[in-house]
Amino acid sequence: MTKAVSGFSKLSKEEKINWIAETHFSNPEEAIKTIKKYWNSDADLQKLHDEFIENTISNFYLPLGVAPNFLINGKNYTIPMAIEESSVVAAASKAAKFWANRGGFKATVLNSEKIGQVHFIYKGKKENLEEFFKTIKPKFFTETQSITKNMQKRGGGILDIELRDKTFDLENYYQLHATFETKDSMGANFINSCLEQFAKTLKQEALQFELFSEDEKNIQVVMSILSNYVPNCIVRVEVSCPISELKEDKHISQEEFAEKFVRAVNIAEIEPFRAVTHNKGIMNGIDAVVLATGNDFRAVEAGVHAYASRNGKYTSLSHAKTENGMFSFWMEIPLALGTVGGLTNLHPLVKVAMEMLGNPSAHELMQIVAVAGLAQNFAALRSLTTTGIQQGHMKMHLMNILNQFEATEEERKKVVNHFEKNTVSHSAVVDYLDALRK
Ligand code: MEV
Repeated sequence: MTKAVSGFSKLSKEEKINWIAETHFSNPEEAIKTIKKYWNSDADLQKLHDEFIENTISNFYLPLGVAPNFLINGKNYTIPMAIEESSVVAAASKAAKFWANRGGFKATVLNSEKIGQVHFIYKGKKENLEEFFKTIKPKFFTETQSITKNMQKRGGGILDIELRDKTFDLENYYQLHATFETKDSMGANFINSCLEQFAKTLKQEALQFELFSEDEKNIQVVMSILSNYVPNCIVRVEVSCPISELKEDKHISQEEFAEKFVRAVNIAEIEPFRAVTHNKGIMNGIDAVVLATGNDFRAVEAGVHAYASRNGKYTSLSHAKTENGMFSFWMEIPLALGTVGGLTNLHPLVKVAMEMLGNPSAHELMQIVAVAGLAQNFAALRSLTTTGIQQGHMKMHLMNILNQFEATEEERKKVVNHFEKNTVSHSAVVDYLDALRK
């Protein structure tokens, strides 16, 4: 077992790598070589990445791909996607092209409210607390003036603050539940700074509030933090076309395809085991764009899945129907995204991704990201309800297998050629490669 290390963060990068290599690897030189192979030769760029987090030893590459031909609200986009899963970008591109020829994607931001809470314990009469909150509410706004000044200039700020009684669920537990508009920033720092000031105001003012008994004056703030659940920060995306224009696959009529597709969505609407995988497919598209544009994909993931269970049962994020000869497919999802601040101003590739998208506002980025999710879902369901997912998947995976076995250019050509007509499986590729090498 490895011994614990103390003062690790104070070691130099070189010392850290040496310690790790010596302590954890059977071949330390080889490990060091691999770690350093991923360093950037541009020292300034490397320093920038080193400083994003603590204890950086190297860079972890993900491919940055692009999916062109996304027609969204009449505007054409090339969407950057950072993702390791082999079939995602190809699927997005295919779905983009399919819908570009059928009117494209329509996207609308329904609202963009963010939420933050101060969680506190108050042991006393509820009426006194309500009176206290009413009296001091303006102070929450005035005492955060220095924080909110700039945001207000951009049209954002604190929207409202409510006192919420949660004592039914947890003894003596109350909240300040605050809503915010953060315009083009995701707003995490802004919201958390406001909340921490609310907490200070709450505690200080309580000490001076005359109606309070000595016990009541002693409000205990447990924590102040934004919520990644943003059910009022919703974007709606949709596609539709006459069923007669759905023709894509020679093995299935457009009517049968539309019916099977809607059924597949219905199944995800009522069956949580399927809904999770269905939504995972949506997140393939969403996370890839969120990551490429320097946004927080964990926050998005957490918020989206909470939204998918908002009615007490986990369900599909997307919906589909056929009506009067039309096929429609749509989704409403919460997305708290930023196009200024955070990594968006720091990471050179994020800047490239943003410029590729025409430097969108946060609202426009919400639309683009949601479209990438719906496109991905469409592509997955189209494969699943027609050819099955493995055909396309394994074709893309072929390259990974070839890389794993360090196939030469000539071997690659032969393998790709062979598997044009044969079913790809890991063992079939390995057997074919073996035969070639004999
Ligand atoms: C794989 O990453 C995603 C899918 O499983 C999504 C789905 O089943 O809808 C193909």
